[in-house]
Order: sequence, then structure tokens, then C-alpha cells
Amino acid sequence: MRLDIISAVPELLDSFFQNSIVKRAQDKGHVEVHIHNLHDYGIGKYKQIDDYPFGGGAGMVLMIEPIAQLIRQLQAERTYDEIIYTAPDGERFNQKTANTLSMAENLIILCGHYKGIDERLREIFVTKEISIGDYVLSGGELAASVISDAIIRLLPGVLGDETSALTDSFQDNLLAPPVYTRPSEWEGHRVPDILLSGHDAKIQDWRHEQAVERTQQRRPDLLS
Ligand code: ADE
Repeated sequence: MRLDIISAVPELLDSFFQNSIVKRAQDKGHVEVHIHNLHDYGIGKYKQIDDYPFGGGAGMVLMIEPIAQLIRQLQAERTYDEIIYTAPDGERFNQKTANTLSMAENLIILCGHYKGIDERLREIFVTKEISIGDYVLSGGELAASVISDAIIRLLPGVLGDETSALTDSFQDNLLAPPVYTRPSEWEGHRVPDILLSGHDAKIQDWRHEQAVERTQQRRPDLLS
């Protein structure tokens, strides 16, 4: 997969993409991440990227030309499955969307900033608008990092254990069951006997029951 991320504050993305599982995924060649600094495409002597909103009001709006120029340049090289824009008024991000996006070949993520981007960019270029939750962030970079992480960890070979993404919470609309490790008893708190029994089929049944029970208690909305 190739991921092109467009940002006015690329420094906010650097630390995330230079660490974590995402960094390993890049080193192993599972994903190629290109972070583009919008200021490199700014207009005129001062490399302007934003301007006051028509009609007045607070905040600055990212201009159409720098972003359009960069997107067109990228599109001239390859076809993109989606051009994603991060914004609080987008569709709510979830595991299903992450699963679908993880099958893409090429993605662009355009990080929102200030009061937003010129609406014409959304109409002309953006194919998917994603919010990571009902709250407002200062910019789209954290949202882009969240979306990228959720997608990249699903790419084949990225996680050490090939099956581990399949047992995540939200796959099959269930939360994950509880997990334990050594010691089997700590200050009188014991690990459930079933997990020490060695009966693989029974353990799988128990995990499924736990997942259902946990989902009923904590997120009944996932079961309806
Ligand atoms: N930009 C600002 N707030 C956001 C949110 N909740 N999700 C995605 N992008 C955002």
C-alpha cells in the first residue's frame, strides 16, 4: 500500500510515523508513507496556504490552489482508491471502514486545519470524509495518524502473529475477551482455570462467551 498524507503541520505526523508498528511496517516494505508539507506548494513569495473566509468570520481556510496542485501531481503518477479528508463532520470511523481501506492500493489523506478547507476541494477531489469521534481536534493530523494506524496494522505481515488482527475487538462486532499471562496466581487472584486446562476447543468457546458477555455489558449497541 502507498499512503500520501497532506498536512500543513507535517511535524505532527513525523514522530508517529517514525515509531511504532507503523515504522516497522514501512521498514519491512508493507507500506510506503509519503508525508507532504503543504507549505511547499504555497502561493507567491510568502508561500501562502490559507486565507480569510469569504463573508467574514473567525479562522483561516486552507486555499484551493496548493492542495489541488499537489493532488493533481500525485494523481498524474497513479490512481488513488480514495482521497480521504479528516473532519469532525465526516462519517464516523470504525473497524469496518479500516478493514475496507486496508485493501486499497493507494490512498491520500488530507489533514484538515484551522476552520477547514475551501469547500470546493471537498466537492471536486475528496471521495471520503472521516471523523474519528464527536469532538473537535485542533487539526486533522491526529485523526490521520489514528486512521493510518488502524489500516496499516491490518496489512498482511505487519503484525507478528497473522491471526492477531482477526481477534481484535470490533472484528465480528464483538469486543475482545480478557487475556492473562504469568503468574497464574498473583496475591490470591487466579487466572480462570479453563485457560490453564489445555483444552483448545473449550478455551475458544469460553473466549467467545466472554466476548459476547463483555459486548452485552459494555457496548450493547454493537449487537443490535
Ligand atoms: N479534525 C478535527 N476534529 C476532527 C475529528 N473529530 N475527526 C477527524 N478530523 C478532525
